[in-house]
Amino acid sequence: MTANNSRDDWWKQAVVYQVYPRSFKDVNGDGLGDIAGITEKIGYLKTLGVDAIWLSPFYPSELADGGYDVIDYRNVDPRLGTMDDFDAMVAAAHGSGLKVIVDIVPNHTSNKHRFFKEALKAGRGSAARDRYIFREGRGKNGELPPNDWQSLFGGPAWERVDDGQWYFHIFAVEQPDVNWKNPDIHEEFKETFRFWSDHGVDGFRIDVAHGLAKDFDSKSLEELGAEFSVQDQESHDGSSPMWDRPEVHDIYKEWRQVFNEYNPPRFAVAEAWVVPEHQHLYASTDELGQVFNFEFAKADWDVDQMRTAITEGLDSAARTNGSTSTWVMSNHDIPRNATRYGLPQIPSTDKHQIAKDWLLRDGKTYFEDRALGTRRARAAALLELGLPGSAYIYQGEELGLFEVPDIPWDRLEDPNAFRTSQAASDKGRDGCRVPLPWIAGDEPKPAKWDKNFGEGATFGFSPATKTDGTPAAAPHLPQPLWFKDFAADKEATDPTSMLTLYHAALKDRAELLTATGDHASLDWLDMGDDVIAYTRPAVYQGSQATFASVTNFGTAPVALPKGRILLTSAELAEDGGLPQDASAWLLLDK
Ligand code: GLC
Repeated sequence: MTANNSRDDWWKQAVVYQVYPRSFKDVNGDGLGDIAGITEKIGYLKTLGVDAIWLSPFYPSELADGGYDVIDYRNVDPRLGTMDDFDAMVAAAHGSGLKVIVDIVPNHTSNKHRFFKEALKAGRGSAARDRYIFREGRGKNGELPPNDWQSLFGGPAWERVDDGQWYFHIFAVEQPDVNWKNPDIHEEFKETFRFWSDHGVDGFRIDVAHGLAKDFDSKSLEELGAEFSVQDQESHDGSSPMWDRPEVHDIYKEWRQVFNEYNPPRFAVAEAWVVPEHQHLYASTDELGQVFNFEFAKADWDVDQMRTAITEGLDSAARTNGSTSTWVMSNHDIPRNATRYGLPQIPSTDKHQIAKDWLLRDGKTYFEDRALGTRRARAAALLELGLPGSAYIYQGEELGLFEVPDIPWDRLEDPNAFRTSQAASDKGRDGCRVPLPWIAGDEPKPAKWDKNFGEGATFGFSPATKTDGTPAAAPHLPQPLWFKDFAADKEATDPTSMLTLYHAALKDRAELLTATGDHASLDWLDMGDDVIAYTRPAVYQGSQATFASVTNFGTAPVALPKGRILLTSAELAEDGGLPQDASAWLLLDK
């Protein structure tokens, strides 16, 4: 166990690796990653040097939204394994000193969840219907939805059921929103937290944490529809009928009681796309404990935006009663950071849409400037991993994977692709969810249907055959042939690879930075407008030392402060200067 993980407040500076289970590693050859696949790769994760793994949903699901449509919160999707597999995975993770975090989806269930089936059967006005948000429609016979709200995945946010009532869904039709004013919902989730905690889980990631509390009754739905839209997630003065409402915090205070039944108390991290000034409310240690700071994920590779992202993250953490900042550059919902940094920097409030529009403009596929994207992603890794607080790495980020923008339409899975504008450029989020390449030598042949993608072998994602000896199914999303250069086994032996850089950075971080237990202090080093540089207290060979991280965004190389260089993301200039788009870690001379 790392020194960090032996502390009760391990999460305050943990490096958490996000596993998207269906695309991580497939052991049984059905083309879907599974729980046993995670167990098999615990050694890889341990070697990488992370403190914890967070599993995106692995529960029974019809996969209307990649598993975020949960049929049963207290079980494993049979295609991914069994509860015994889960227990074995937790034992393997704990045996290697890694913590386990699972994803909880409390804003909506699957429409196949027992509660929703009961609601449909029981009919209007019933107690079962009160667990969801059912309303009568407008028009003479209620044939029009209660208002004009559009779901975040496109199309109306209301769906009519057989007896004529309508139910509300922020996301896909298959994801009815639950009613958090109903006590059964509170019980269902408290029981769920206890269930997983009893199975050894150390923490929870809370999906759409800013959306649970809804007020659809203080005005007519027609009025609300005229005033607000579902899309307006960052409306933050408490007036939105569904986002970031003050009552949502009562729910988290109640959950905290459950988390505190355990020793050490379970922790949770909120996915809350709220303004930085509100993040700390979710991160209170009387509530969830931590909140994602998405400012990094939203920033371009731009010195001012990056500096602001860091300041806002630190300010947000400082406002809490004992939480820490969190750093996120990518996840399963946004285009991969190596791609974003390799695109022209186009000002926009929606960087992620811009990235997709750029890659798929004019009905063609364009690729990012890969050398530039990689160079900046390397610099960004050091910039991020030296910061105080906790960092979240999305699977494949450590391999430097790029977005796969050109998955053919008929192979896409994300409802976001099908339900929105259907604009040629908006292919949804599958481009960052392609099954990982593990073994370069297990190379597929160019597919008959598209020579850029593989067929046959799977870069070690799936075995060649299923357990009964028949050929394995194709991976659920196709892998591009260029994945070969990013396979984990190839990168593991390449001193210049992204994997080697992450490995070295996480080792230094654990030895020098987290060992101090200090998860909050940072001092800025002023090295000019084009440079982001900071120092932190460190321990080196048992003595106190000063760590520095320097990132150069400017065109001219900059002289590094005097000290011992630990790690650089790129070769230094001949005179020892740090070149453009590069970072260095040092221990400063006393
Ligand atoms: C969160 C998840 C996303 C999912 C949505 C609905 O934003 O990260 O993948 O589609 O919630 O559950």
